[in-house]
Amino acid sequence: MIKDIESIKRIGILTSGGDAPGMNAAIRSVVLAAHHYHIEVIGFFHGYNGLVCQEYIEQAKPLTLLDVNSIIHFGGTILKSARCQLMHEEHGLKLAADTLNDYEIDALVVVGGDGSFNGLLALQPYWSGQVVGIPGTIDNDVDGTDYTIGFATAVNTGIEAIDKIRDTADAFERIFIVELMGRHSGHITFNVGIACAAEQVLSFENFTGDDETEKLAQLTREIVKAKEVRHASYIIVIAENLWRGGAAELAKQLKQSSGIECTPCILGHIQRGGSPVAKDRILATKMGVAALQALIEGKTNVMVAEQDNAMHLIPLEEAVKHHKLVSQQLVDAQQNILALTAQTQC
Ligand code: F6P
Repeated sequence: MIKDIESIKRIGILTSGGDAPGMNAAIRSVVLAAHHYHIEVIGFFHGYNGLVCQEYIEQAKPLTLLDVNSIIHFGGTILKSARCQLMHEEHGLKLAADTLNDYEIDALVVVGGDGSFNGLLALQPYWSGQVVGIPGTIDNDVDGTDYTIGFATAVNTGIEAIDKIRDTADAFERIFIVELMGRHSGHITFNVGIACAAEQVLSFENFTGDDETEKLAQLTREIVKAKEVRHASYIIVIAENLWRGGAAELAKQLKQSSGIECTPCILGHIQRGGSPVAKDRILATKMGVAALQALIEGKTNVMVAEQDNAMHLIPLEEAVKHHKLVSQQLVDAQQNILALTAQTQC
């Protein structure tokens, strides 16, 4: 049902949680679509802090076409981002509602991950405006959408970095352990690992953590073989928060068990930065338009999602219920390719 467009005069937008390449493209798209419907867009800065902290509330400003004219290729977010503890407290939620009322905001668009959407849900009892989420996080762990804004760029960044590591690893026949972001999910790790032909992919989906000793023994056998029989480089990609002590600790333990030097490399926040790749720019643009369309149609409490290349709306409650898992197909593909590689090396 198309809503009376006149009833939406002003919307707010903020970016929240870990920034992701493509967030600017999403902001641009929302502003352009809103302009089309003669709706004003107020940008709130520093995530939800822009609604609850006086110093940031004062920074809120209308976003003009000029503001978003040439931002599609920038990483980060022109609105800044943050994680906001106050949105977990009643006091903070009331402050946020007051700010939205003071600015006469009819609807709020939030670009972020599941934590940010929990903020939107928590706000519901205190504020009656419409809310729409746009999934933006490099982790790709938001349920209901095939891809989140920023994931494709982060994967490309990981690939570029590991291709470079491979050159020097080959030259020295070295063992590298590269730690990738993803919080508690392995979307980045699996995709980068497969695309870089990493000899090992270690992530939550194929390693429970219960059998560390067994895994260490297996890796030790493999790196000894790589170094002493095949005279080749060996790259392990590992998800952050998986191994106790991370890549550095695993490298130390492998050195102890094999006698072979292992070099840890933590890619860290490099994965969050950089100009968004085409896929993220296009996804963000489509999602921004879909978010505006949803508001015009009177929808609220929904997240824009891409499924099989088409835009959908799913309830925010659904999106935050579970983390999206890495597909079993991808996990199996990595396992199969590893087995085939091992056979060809015999
Ligand atoms: O959620 C995005 C993300 O980059 C995760 O991959 C990572 O675990 C986390 O944020 C890092 O957060 P911070 O930048 O606050 O250290």
